[in-house]
Amino acid sequence: MKQDDRIISSLAVKEDEDKTLRPQHLTEYVGQQDIKEMLNVYIQAALKREEAIDHILFYGPPGLGKTTLAQIVANEMGVNIKVTSGAAIERSGDLAAILTSLEPGDVLFIDEIHRLPRIVEEVLYAAMEDYVIDILIGKEGQTRSIRIDLPPFTLIGATTRYGDLSAPLRDRFGVVMRLNFYNAEELADIARRTASVYKAEIDEEAVLELARRSRGTPRIVNRLFRRVRDFAEIISDGNITNEVTNLALTKLGINSSGLDQTDQDYLRAIIEKFNGGPVGIEAISASIGEEVTTVEDVYEPYLLQEGYIKRTARGRVALEKSYELLNIKFYKGIFE
Ligand SMILES: Nc1ncnc2c1ncn2[C@@H]1O[C@H](COP(=O)(O)OP(=O)(O)OP(=O)(O)O)[C@@H](O)[C@H]1O
Ligand SMILES: [Mg+2]
Repeated sequence: MKQDDRIISSLAVKEDEDKTLRPQHLTEYVGQQDIKEMLNVYIQAALKREEAIDHILFYGPPGLGKTTLAQIVANEMGVNIKVTSGAAIERSGDLAAILTSLEPGDVLFIDEIHRLPRIVEEVLYAAMEDYVIDILIGKEGQTRSIRIDLPPFTLIGATTRYGDLSAPLRDRFGVVMRLNFYNAEELADIARRTASVYKAEIDEEAVLELARRSRGTPRIVNRLFRRVRDFAEIISDGNITNEVTNLALTKLGINSSGLDQTDQDYLRAIIEKFNGGPVGIEAISASIGEEVTTVEDVYEPYLLQEGYIKRTARGRVALEKSYELLNIKFYKGIFE
C-alpha cells in the first residue's frame, strides 16, 4: 500500500518538475542578477515599442536555467513559444515549416543550437536578419528560389557549447548572455522555494547543506531535494532535517564539497593514473568511461571554476585542492 502511494506521488512529482517548479516570471527567477536586469530592460522596451524582442543567445553549463529564461521571456512578452532543438532539425524544410508557422512577436526557442546542421543554419541567417527565407523549389537542374516573408519573431538559442557556434550565427544575436554557477545563498533560496512548492517541511540547516552540495546548479539542488525528501519520508516523519540530508547525500555519493562520484573519479584519474597531469581530456574520459563532450560540458566547468583543476596547452592539471579533497599528498612543482 505504502509502495503504491509512493509510485503515485512520484509521478505527480515528475509533473511538478516541469510545470510548477519552473519559475514563470523574472521576479521568481533566483540569482543571475545582471542577466535579469538587462532582460527586464529589453522586455520593457520591446513591449513599449510593440516590437519583437531582439534575438537572444543563452549559454552556460547544463541545469543553470537557460530553458527557464527562454520561457520567462516569452511569458513576460505575452507571446507564444515554440520549442525545438538543433539536433531535431535535419533539413532546411523542417526549419522553414516552423518559421512560417510563427505569429508576429512569437519566440522560437532552439535548444542545443550548436547542433544545427550548417545547411539549416544558413537559412536562419536571413530569417534572423531580414525576417525572410529563401527556399529552393523544383527538380534538380530547374530549381528556382522563392522568397517568403516571415512575421517579426524572436529567436532564442541555448547552448552549453558557445565555442561550437559559427561566427556568423553568433553575430546575429543582438543579446548574448552567459549564465554562471549560483552561489550557496541563491541555491538556498531555490531550495526554500522548492520546499514551498512541494509543501515540504525542511530545516534551515538542511537547506544550507543542500545548497552547499549542489555544484552551483539549480537543477541539482532540485534533484537532490527530491531524493532527500524520499529519505525523510521513509526513515523519519517526512520532515527534512539536517541529519536526514547528510545521510541521504552521503548515500548518493555526494561528498561534503558537493562533488559527485564522477567528479571524484575524474580527479582521482588525473592524480593517480596520470601523475597529476598535464593529461589530455581524451585519456581522462576514456579512463573514467565517459564521453569527452560530457566531461567537457558537464563535469569540467565546475571543477575549473572551483579551482580543482586547470587547463593548460598540454592538458588538464590537478591543483592542490584536488589532492586535499582526496587526501593525497601534494608535492608542489613536481606535478605541474
Ligand atoms: N534561477 C532559477 N531560479 C529557480 N529555479 C531555477 C532557476 N534556474 C533553473 N531553475 C530550475 O532548474 C531546472 C533546470 O533549469 P533549466 O532546464 O532551465 O536549465 P538549462 O540551462 O536549460 O539546462 P540544459 O542545458 O540541460 O538544457 C528548472 O526546471 C528550474 O526548476
Ligand atoms: Mg535547457
